[in-house]
Amino acid sequence: MADTIKYLLSEEQMPKDWYNLAADLPVPLPAVLHPGTMQPVGPDDLAPLFPMSLIAQEVSTERYIEIPEPVQEVFRQWRPSPLFRARRLEKALGTPARIYYKYEGVSPAGSHKPNTAIPQAFYNREAGIRKLTTETGAGQWGTSLSFAGSLFGIEVQVFQVRVSYNQKPYRRAVMETYGAQCVASPSELTQSGRAILAQNPNHPGSLGIAISEAVELAAQREDTKYALGSVLNHVLLHQTIIGQEAIAQLAMAGDDPDVIVGCTGGGSNFAGIAFPFLGLQLRGGRKRRVVAVEPAACPSLTRGKYAYDFGDTAHLTPLTKMHTLGSTFTPPGFHAGGLRYHGMAPMVSHLKELGLIEATAYHQTACFEAGVAFARAEGIVPAPEANHAVKGAIEEALRCKREGKSEVILFNLCGHGHFDMQAYTDYFAGKLQDLNYDEAELAMALSGLPSVPA
Ligand SMILES: Cc1ncc(COP(=O)(O)O)c(C=O)c1O
Repeated sequence: MADTIKYLLSEEQMPKDWYNLAADLPVPLPAVLHPGTMQPVGPDDLAPLFPMSLIAQEVSTERYIEIPEPVQEVFRQWRPSPLFRARRLEKALGTPARIYYKYEGVSPAGSHKPNTAIPQAFYNREAGIRKLTTETGAGQWGTSLSFAGSLFGIEVQVFQVRVSYNQKPYRRAVMETYGAQCVASPSELTQSGRAILAQNPNHPGSLGIAISEAVELAAQREDTKYALGSVLNHVLLHQTIIGQEAIAQLAMAGDDPDVIVGCTGGGSNFAGIAFPFLGLQLRGGRKRRVVAVEPAACPSLTRGKYAYDFGDTAHLTPLTKMHTLGSTFTPPGFHAGGLRYHGMAPMVSHLKELGLIEATAYHQTACFEAGVAFARAEGIVPAPEANHAVKGAIEEALRCKREGKSEVILFNLCGHGHFDMQAYTDYFAGKLQDLNYDEAELAMALSGLPSVPA
């Protein structure tokens, strides 16, 4: 029989529940704090921003949470997503490793982001909300929420980080096609944006600033709420459909991963592929290596401090304990806009502290080199963010080659790069630089971390 390339599940085999890692954590997550009182926040503190159904998911410790049928119905358009065996890449690398990748670029937006945009829009619609505000870095999340808003009749206002807004005009065009409004952040629409522009009219923007703008607008109106594309527990929860499918697909292949690799911006696609496997381990299953790959120019997990910090630059959010570079840190304008976030999901940070995951960082040219090698073998052009996972997986495969080991490597190919071709053009023209963050700025941002009583 010919070698199998892709492992497909039927629509009926799509998971019906999300998996909640909080149910299996050996140590619970540190509390989220109110910055005024330094006391744990309650549901009422979050209510101006999120509907109660999502707040309930945020704090839930139930192991499984049912995916509502209307959400499943939308998912069935592209889910279950395929799992591929990267046979040609294995051959090109000359590795004895078996490499698998879960491909999330088959969604309408081109990444994993609709996995949470659809349920977030659904729950907001159920709560009678008419408008959602959000940030976007790469444009993938803004596109996904715009798509979800169009399906559920919700107006969407997107603040796109200025550097990415300028790099990718067609992302805005897609958001507008879905009926959303997209402005460059920092913008004149909010107090937070105006304050930053007053200091620097050419500010490149950051996810922290775009979050401040979106939160500020949402908090002003009863019929408007805020949607976040990563970081929060409920967002990570929604992404676990990826890893649950992968478990079933690898069982079809008769393999079990030794190493799981994902890129990390705020942590959601990484959580999506890794948490269901970590859950098996925490319930007594075998231990696997789980590797988070982040950009060397914005290395929250590998260089950040594990401390309480704000999720945004203007300090409108509660305080969460996470790996952070400081909420005022502005990363250089490298091409993986979705990875330019100063913090990391509290749940992913917690796992790093518990020694359950590893983290590594690479510069962008090495990641593009890996992405091009992948595209030339497998045909799919990865998003610049996903190139970090490709790089991580290739490094693991080359290690296997050196050590003569035929380990099984699974990575999340979280999105395609069809709107990111300027980045590839710059790479081929030799214009991509390995930008370093400013050490003095990092030190300053870290010195401004809020002091929280022990
Ligand atoms: C394709 C892609 N991958 C990864 C990310 C990073 O987010 P996360 O770490 O939440 O998956 C983004 C964010 O915009 C993205 O667009």
